[in-house]
Amino acid sequence: MCGIVGYTGPRQAYPIILKGLKRLEYRGYDSTGIALLNSGLKIFKKKGKVTDLESTLLGQELHGNIGIGHTRWATHGEPNDVNAHPHRSASGKLAMIHNGIIENFLQLKKDLEKNGYSFKSETDTEVLLNFIEEIRIKNKCNLEEAVRVALNRVVGAYVILLIDEDDPETIIAARKGSPLVIGIGKNEHFLGSDASPMLEYTREVVYVNDYELVIVKPNELILKNLENETITPFVQKLDIELAAIEKNGYDYFMLKEIHEQPKTIYDCLRGRLDAENGTITMAGVELNIEQLKNAPRLIIVACGTSWHAGLIAEYIFEELCRIPVEVEYASEFRYRNPVINRGDVIIAISQSGETADTLVAIEKAKEKGAFIFGVVNVVGSSIARASHAGAYTHAGPEIGVASTKAFTAQLAVLTMVALKIAKEKNTISDERFHQLLQELNEIPAKVSKILEYTEKIEALAKNLKNAQNFLYLGRGYNFPVALEGALKLKEISYIHAEGYPAAEMKHGPIALVDNSLPVVFVATKDENIEKVMSNMHEIKARKGKVISIITENDNLTASICDEFLSVPPSDEIVAPMLSVVPLQLLAYYIGIEKGCDVDKPRNLAKSVTVE
Ligand code: F6R
Repeated sequence: MCGIVGYTGPRQAYPIILKGLKRLEYRGYDSTGIALLNSGLKIFKKKGKVTDLESTLLGQELHGNIGIGHTRWATHGEPNDVNAHPHRSASGKLAMIHNGIIENFLQLKKDLEKNGYSFKSETDTEVLLNFIEEIRIKNKCNLEEAVRVALNRVVGAYVILLIDEDDPETIIAARKGSPLVIGIGKNEHFLGSDASPMLEYTREVVYVNDYELVIVKPNELILKNLENETITPFVQKLDIELAAIEKNGYDYFMLKEIHEQPKTIYDCLRGRLDAENGTITMAGVELNIEQLKNAPRLIIVACGTSWHAGLIAEYIFEELCRIPVEVEYASEFRYRNPVINRGDVIIAISQSGETADTLVAIEKAKEKGAFIFGVVNVVGSSIARASHAGAYTHAGPEIGVASTKAFTAQLAVLTMVALKIAKEKNTISDERFHQLLQELNEIPAKVSKILEYTEKIEALAKNLKNAQNFLYLGRGYNFPVALEGALKLKEISYIHAEGYPAAEMKHGPIALVDNSLPVVFVATKDENIEKVMSNMHEIKARKGKVISIITENDNLTASICDEFLSVPPSDEIVAPMLSVVPLQLLAYYIGIEKGCDVDKPRNLAKSVTVE
């Protein structure tokens, strides 16, 4: 949450920071601000998106070779111009941006107020900044030392970037619990919440770890820990292409990412799945096969869409591997005292690899002796690094706030992991193993086929856009898909939607059904289909509108529905990778019909690094 960018070097900082903020806007977009040093410290900030700030600054002279920029997801204090970052210290000399939460800020604020400080904003950031300044003045130390002393006394999570009017080449940064990347250029340095702001300028990056302090000047990069010991930076080469983070002609990243799915699923299978020879190659599984196949229990921890992938994985692992599985919201798991037994394996699923709750959940499970297997999209992210082993999903950067291609890639990876363990455990027949490899192999082409027929979904979206509520229902593997369909709709169109197991509908939600309620059934053909058809009749008998995702040529199911969208036939284990695609598109087009900014839905941020 919150995007941060910094630059120091020979170029003009403003355009670099502005472009970087546009790329990081997926992390928060309540307000935007930039601080530049050019014979004095200048701060420009405004409530709203990056383009709102940009238009107010049009025509102004914005010079400076050093600067920091922030796009905010509000925690302390409503989104407005005053609470926007950067904040300026009481002396006027320091500017700071912050991603995270300082939990003991109220106590620090009280102490500072006693010492005569007053605050303009309601933010924890302004408190931390003045706390740093007070230490600098009291201890008569330099800024680096003051930051170190302050950070040893704060509780919470942060990435901070600071500039000082009296030191117009240096940016000081620090990280705990939120991501920070340094880009190393020729006589210049870049800082960002991810590498996207620096992609045009350098491929050499350093991922900063928790409790590390960074001091960058154009020609110098110093990394230290909070004990003031110097650390040698580990420089890595980036392999992301610029095109991967641009819209490439699509109106929205979300639409681009939905359409990328044939490729992203293919990329995820490539080099791993060999359907012809009947093999799956996954080093993360192979090297830890004893641990995985002998696990008495698998505990899947994740949030949001990744949690839905976890629910589907539960069905797959139990069916194929005969291992008991529990699926946990990371945010609940971490705050109780879960029983973790010897040999239990935690599977952490995360697109960003930075979700705070998932990260802490696995740290806690590690302390109790669990083995952590990460299924993560962002290479080098915190969850990937905190895992003992894992498999990347290789879906490429996902920028639309609503997760789409990451979900289907997670399912592809989890299915391969389950198949591999099942083969090793002998809980799957050769015939079924080969059949499922073939089924997986065909998924990219089947998704392409679904994407050829978007007109029908667009038309349906026009008819449904005024509904106030939706119900999404499914059984078996289709139940988590119903949850995911409902989540997509509510997050990008702001229409209330609930997902339920189709049978559970009779235990409450059926009371909602009347002629104004669209009920979306995920009803691809499997052994439950007849029961699902009965549920459709129950809805129709109460005048609800039945809209279904069905298997191609399933005329019987189609005959009950008011509207249907079809997907190619497939085994039920892989069907969610198909049936979710029309639901993603339906949510997208309803969001568009309602005039919503589907890439940046209100109140949301892509990477939830606060708890
Ligand atoms: C929904 C969505 C969120 C994320 C959740 C977990 O479209 O994107 O629900 O799935 O915040 O994020 P990751 O997977 O990055 O841990």
